Amino acid sequence: MKVRINVIVNGEKHHLEVKPNHTLVDVLREELSLTGTKKGCGSGKCGSCTVLMDGRPVNSCLILAPQADGREVVTIEGLAGREPHPLQKAFAEKGAIQCGYCAPGMILTAKALLDVNPNPQEEEIRFAIAGNLCRCTGYSKTVEAIRSCANSSRNNRPSAGRKAYA
Ligand code: FES
Ligand code: FES
Repeated sequence: MKVRINVIVNGEKHHLEVKPNHTLVDVLREELSLTGTKKGCGSGKCGSCTVLMDGRPVNSCLILAPQADGREVVTIEGLAGREPHPLQKAFAEKGAIQCGYCAPGMILTAKALLDVNPNPQEEEIRFAIAGNLCRCTGYSKTVEAIRSCANSSRNNRPSAGRKAYA
């Protein structure tokens, strides 16, 4: 049995038929070919599958596809415009990307933080990214990259489907 859902992904409407037990990360990767969203643990522990749903960071491996019905989702593909998003540039420039597996989820988590707190302190950044595991960087460069985008008007460029926190 399949379920019909309507979901906006990166500003584009999609009408999909999904299995009720299919997860959002699988739909994004397998049905929409948005492979920028990475699947790690598959059980809500690593944060690599983070996307924004109605502006909030969520572990898309924990969201069943039917739960995305009527929602707006932004993946890492929706963040960049003609140029990489300032956070993407900062991560690259500050050395916060090594293998890069955590980067899409980490950057979307940072985006959600800066949307509600444009000038976060280090502890606030570390708290925000606590659910995003990185095996490579040791987090200092990640924090530095996010700090470098604080109070940047460039960061406030809306991403597709962006909504502020309620
Ligand atoms: S793959 Fe979703 S939290 Fe690890
Ligand atoms: S850069 Fe490799 S896991 Fe973060």
